Amino acid sequence: MGHRIIFATGNEGKMREVRAILADLGLPVLSMKEAGADPVIVEDGKTFGENAQIKAQAVWNCTGDIVLADDSGLVVDYIGGEPGIYSARYMGEDTSYVIKNQNIIDRLKDAKGKERSARFVCNIAAVLPDGRVLHAEETMEGLIAEKPAGTGGFGYDPILYLPEFGMTSAEITMEEKNKISHRGKALEAIKRVLAAELEKDGRDSR
Ligand code: IMP
Repeated sequence: MGHRIIFATGNEGKMREVRAILADLGLPVLSMKEAGADPVIVEDGKTFGENAQIKAQAVWNCTGDIVLADDSGLVVDYIGGEPGIYSARYMGEDTSYVIKNQNIIDRLKDAKGKERSARFVCNIAAVLPDGRVLHAEETMEGLIAEKPAGTGGFGYDPILYLPEFGMTSAEITMEEKNKISHRGKALEAIKRVLAAELEKDGRDSR
């Protein structure tokens, strides 16, 4: 199979996490930039999975190899799954998360207990050298907090209350979050799938 893995992101923080988790596959892990790919990507999918696949296939068209891409966001049940795939663009890309987070809390002012259920979702698409596409999707489940708390993490972390920790996603440590996060678990899942493919490939070429 391909001799390298390319992760379709421009985000260095994400690349560090990806490199750490995928290291034991024994293949070099490159960012899009390191692989020299800079395609125009129109994320017009209707699901996290479609958007992840659009990104991965756009880069795969430039490079081949094994290309991974992720798409994630916050899904709040009480407001019909919003902001969902529009999490980054919710209330405008340049609006601060202080405002976005307060707006979500305000929209849930009448929601009680389990009605406040919400989750981060991450879908990772992998395009293999032969063009086959595989997916892994994982969540981090919680409740929308009554008020924002914590300074760790980013984005919507201060408003996702994690009952098993008694804290929001912005109050737990990064190590704790990486172990239980939607993205951490989806990366572990896609790693298992890729490891199985690499093993099969090794057997077939023997
Ligand atoms: P991306 O697909 O990783 O770029 O994430 C899209 C958007 O989802 C981000 O801009 C955040 O608004 C939100 N999001 C995804 N993951 C997290 C997280 O772990 N914490 C807080 N917000 C997140």
